[in-house]
Amino acid sequence: MFVPLERLINLEEGYRQTFQVGGRSVLLLVLDNQPLLIEDRCPHQGAPLSRGTLTNGILRCQRHGIEFQLPGGQSLQPSCPGLNLLKPAYEGDRIGVDI
Ligand code: FES
Repeated sequence: MFVPLERLINLEEGYRQTFQVGGRSVLLLVLDNQPLLIEDRCPHQGAPLSRGTLTNGILRCQRHGIEFQLPGGQSLQPSCPGLNLLKPAYEGDRIGVDI
């Protein structure tokens, strides 16, 4: 089932918004004109990544400072797994997720 999140026309560089989808929080952001969907939960200890900082393609969790490389989501700390990326889905003029 397609769950629409945002109109494509609103996806500008720097866009960043969280949504509740199927009981979990999802972060939609645009980096290098590419939309990325990330579970808004740090794989370290679950802090919301939407409160982190994004600089030069590095998303830094605000709780303990672990950094993740975007768009791939790899953790820069070997002991921490990477981000849980979701596959964007498209329908009409909307981006969303299939659940
Ligand atoms: S919860 Fe994100 S770095 Fe610890």
